[in-house]
Amino acid sequence: MGLEDRDSVRILRDAFDPALGSEQLVGDFYTRWFAADLSARDLFPPDMATQRRAFAHAMCWLCDELIAQRAEEPVAFLAQLGRDHRKYGVTPAHYAAVKDALLATVRTALADRWNARLAEAVSDVFTLAVEVMSGAADAESTPPFCDGTVVEHLRPTRDVAVVRLKMDHPLGYHPGQYLPVQVPQWPRRWRYLSPAMPADPQGHVEFHVRSVPGGMVSHAIVGEARPGDRWRLANPHGGMHVDRDGGDVLMVAGSTGLAPLRALIMDLARYAVNPRVHLFFGAKYPCELYDLRTLWELASMNPWLSVTPVSELNFDPPWAGDFPDNTPPRGLHVRQTGLLSEVVTRYGSWGDRQILLCGRAEMVRATKAALIAKGAPAERIQHDPLAD
Ligand SMILES: Cc1cc2nc3c(=O)[nH]c(=O)nc-3n(C[C@H](O)[C@H](O)[C@H](O)COP(=O)(O)OP(=O)(O)OC[C@H]3O[C@@H](n4cnc5c(N)ncnc54)[C@H](O)[C@@H]3O)c2cc1C
Ligand code: HEM
Repeated sequence: MGLEDRDSVRILRDAFDPALGSEQLVGDFYTRWFAADLSARDLFPPDMATQRRAFAHAMCWLCDELIAQRAEEPVAFLAQLGRDHRKYGVTPAHYAAVKDALLATVRTALADRWNARLAEAVSDVFTLAVEVMSGAADAESTPPFCDGTVVEHLRPTRDVAVVRLKMDHPLGYHPGQYLPVQVPQWPRRWRYLSPAMPADPQGHVEFHVRSVPGGMVSHAIVGEARPGDRWRLANPHGGMHVDRDGGDVLMVAGSTGLAPLRALIMDLARYAVNPRVHLFFGAKYPCELYDLRTLWELASMNPWLSVTPVSELNFDPPWAGDFPDNTPPRGLHVRQTGLLSEVVTRYGSWGDRQILLCGRAEMVRATKAALIAKGAPAERIQHDPLAD
């Protein structure tokens, strides 16, 4: 039976479900694994809480897919996960110990239900995971990451940095995608950042980073990153895109959520004829609309692009004077005041548009819900996975 034994796979799934109290089991697994393989522990950051959640979530999802008798997506997911794990320094040799630790932990946790059928299903699930991951990693010949040097670090406003790098080799990504990034201030703390420009054959890349309250990596990038710093970037993820034959486009960007949408707009600017694109770019204060001058330049050269700046508040804070004046020349739509979700839906449902949303999870959720409530079809709305 093995993987076909849905009842046994469900028992395994439930053992990993955080909602059913899997913390103990997942914690025991990592303790057992690291005791057997110290070299694995060295690859993880000191705090393991996020990792334990991500691992439990991945195992639940994998089991759910197997219970539903789907194989294609889980295999593709595991293969991608295995290829991506190379950036952490994981080698195929690490996988034997992880499988042994998983088996031993689950056997102990499920001792009262353990039987030959369950043992076979559990073993098959773990074998599938480690073999697909390590096999895909082994078969991959592209480098797992690319290093580059910070050449410019700008502070257009208090909480945002624009960071420009020259990579040692040109990067391959599609506009609208995001990349795992590691900075020297926080080794082994990978975070996703979205390039604000299409891939450049000379290896230049630009990121827009907003410092989030209490945020380790974003705070260091905005406050401490300097020209000369060496950053490590890994392979791209995500599929936000504009279909040039798919009708007009609505884009909604909150703060540095502008980055991937600007990359898409810059990519479209290679063509003379495009669908109409309307971009709402929002922030809390007017002075935080940090990239309006670039948007003004893009809109002035591309008649298919129009831009509405939006600020939550209608005045600037006292610290605005410490940063450059971001006011663009005349030419963009008049700045609107209010929450992005409210301002955007004042103009209707945008139901006939391809809709791309990017920014804080709270903003994306609120704008998506408001658009759907106005009649926009959910399947026309794209956004990246929401992390917070
Ligand atoms: C697909 C994707 C693309 C991204 N692209 C960009 C980008 O181009 N530019 C950019 O600046 N950021 C981007 N991010 C967010 C970025 O990856 C980090 O999550 C963010 O910088 C916080 O990392 P940190 O280490 O500073 O915070 P952490 O130390 O990881 O978190 C500290 C605290 O901040 C909270 N927090 C985490 N992220 C956010 C957030 N975004 N807003 C508010 N609170 C948060 C956490 O819940 C936690 O309480 C992207 C995230 C995803 C998932
Ligand atoms: C059954 C096999 C495995 C599964 C299902 C798995 C799953 C995951 C998942 C879902 C993540 C979070 C997403 C990501 O960052 O890519 C992750 C991160 C990670 N994994 Fe694995 N993994 C496996 C095996 C391994 C092995 C053998 C190693 C070797 C040491 C390893 C080391 C790491 C590291 C270092 C991270 C990053 C942690 C962080 O930066 O916070 N994993 N893994």
